[in-house]
Order: sequence, then structure tokens, then C-alpha cells
Amino acid sequence: MPNPIKLIIDTDPGIDDAMAIFYAAAAADIDLLGLTTIFGNVTVSQATRNALRLLEWAGLHDVPVAQGAAKPRALPPFAPSHNVHGSEGFGDMPAETPKGKAIAESAAEFLTRMAREHRGELVLCPIGPLTNIADALDLDPEFATNVARIVLMGGSLEEGGNITPHAEANIYHDPHAAERVFASGARIEMVGLDVTHRILCTAQDFNTMEAAAPRLGGMINKMSRFYLHFYTTVGKHDGCSLHDPAAVIACTHPELFTPRAVPITVACEGETSGATLIATDGRATSQVFVATRADAVKQQYMDVMAQLD
Ligand code: BDR
Ligand code: CA
Repeated sequence: MPNPIKLIIDTDPGIDDAMAIFYAAAAADIDLLGLTTIFGNVTVSQATRNALRLLEWAGLHDVPVAQGAAKPRALPPFAPSHNVHGSEGFGDMPAETPKGKAIAESAAEFLTRMAREHRGELVLCPIGPLTNIADALDLDPEFATNVARIVLMGGSLEEGGNITPHAEANIYHDPHAAERVFASGARIEMVGLDVTHRILCTAQDFNTMEAAAPRLGGMINKMSRFYLHFYTTVGKHDGCSLHDPAAVIACTHPELFTPRAVPITVACEGETSGATLIATDGRATSQVFVATRADAVKQQYMDVMAQLD
């Protein structure tokens, strides 16, 4: 097997974030160098607490967590998405205090330092609002070229939105940051709703995960009940989307996705705020994933999760 990729996940855990982080912990082709935290599904202090707990549950005690932004760049703060992820982030599971602490560096400081130290090798996978990534771009003019790829969960080219008819939640929660990132010239791969809405897991799939890996798979199974219930409240009865795991899988298995080179801009106001649109200002293209072998992505997820515990 080739060397594992060096990965940092920027996250707002969050149920599907937990699914993604446990996947990264179990995947032999991923070397997880750190987590950075962001507001979104929960507050940023809850995100940091949850990120630390996830790493401790997975036995990754040496993986650092750096705390990031508490609110969007220009918009007023958003209330956390309690209806989707529960009041503490993991559905009905109660909050737990981690043993460890976040490092002293901010998320943007940690990201810029790690991108410098692993120039051309670091893969960054943001699975929450993009504020920390925009802050890192502002902090270090070389960040866009130091980082190898930014494989982000967010946006939608032709699928419409999930938080408004036009916008996907991560982009909607900080459109100004997302615009900064898409205009940066960094090598970007967008894992948006065009593909994540195709990759669905059912209650039966989560039961299978628990049977294979009773401790951590069982935890994901428990959290997933709340998430699956939310999906039924919006009329989706065929399972929940593996949004954030799909982005992590795209970091190591791009062959499971079909890219289209598109320059992306983000609407920052009005009814369409948070929509990812085709830019006409000559900016660099992003690789937008427009189709996926959904069954193969799900199988990849299940196979790696079976190695947990
Ligand atoms: C994204 O929004 C959050 O609720 C999920 O964790 C995921 O990152 C999906 O739109
Ligand atoms: Ca997320």
C-alpha cells in the first residue's frame, strides 16, 4: 500500500462528523495529524470537547485538537443545529468531559504551521463551515500553495440546498469564508450534495456496523438513531446521508467520484445566500464531484468501520 495521506479534518462534531472521524481513525491509508474545530452543528467549545472525546474513544490520545472560530466572518452567529445533531452534538448521548485539552494554537495557526511543515503533502478536509480555512488563508499567504488539496464537504452544483432551497448548510453558515476559500487558488475538491445525497445509510447498515465493531460501531449506531429520525422529519425515509464520511473517503478514494472542473463563487446575501454558483471572473476551477459510485463508497465506509474497536 502507498504511504498513508497526511490529513487534518476541520470539524463541527456533529453525528456525521463523528462517523467521519472514526472512519479516519480506522483507515490504514490515513495518517490523522490533527483536528481543528469550528462552530456549526454545535458551538465551537462543544465542538472542541466532542472532537477530544472522539479521539479518546478511538484511542488517538496523541492527535492534537486546535480550536477555531466561534462565529462566521461577517454574519451574526447562528444557533447550533440541535434538531439535526442533538443539543450536545451526538444525538441523545449525554455530554462527556474529555481528559485532554485543546492545544494553545488557534485552528488557523495550527493549520498554517502544519501546511508549512508538510508542504505539498497535507490534505485538509473541512467538514463544517469554512471560517478557519479562510482565516488560515489570511494568516499565511503561502497557505493556499503549501496545502496539497482541500477536500471539503459543502455546496451543491445542481442538487439544490439542504438548509435553504439554494444552500448547503456548511457553506450557508459562513458564505463569506467559503467565497474566500473558493477564490484562493488552492487545489479544491468539492464533495457536495450532488454526491452526498446519493450515499445513504439505513438503520440496518448501522446495526451491521455495531455487530462488526460493538464498542465504536455501537456508539455510531446509537447516535445514528437521532440523525435518521431527523431525516424522516424532512420526508426522507430511505436513510441518512453520509455527508462528512464521503469527504474523508474522497481524500483517499477519488476514483469513486466523477469530477467536473468548475470555477465556484458563493452568493453572500439575499435569498440565495450560501449557494455555490459558477464564477465568471476567471478564477481557478475547483474539482466539483458531480457523480459517485454510491454503493462502493458505502461499502468502503462499512469495510473500514468494521475494523474499529
Ligand atoms: C453538513 O452540515 C452538517 O450538518 C453536517 O455535519 C455536514 O457537514 C451537511 O450539509
Ligand atoms: Ca459537519
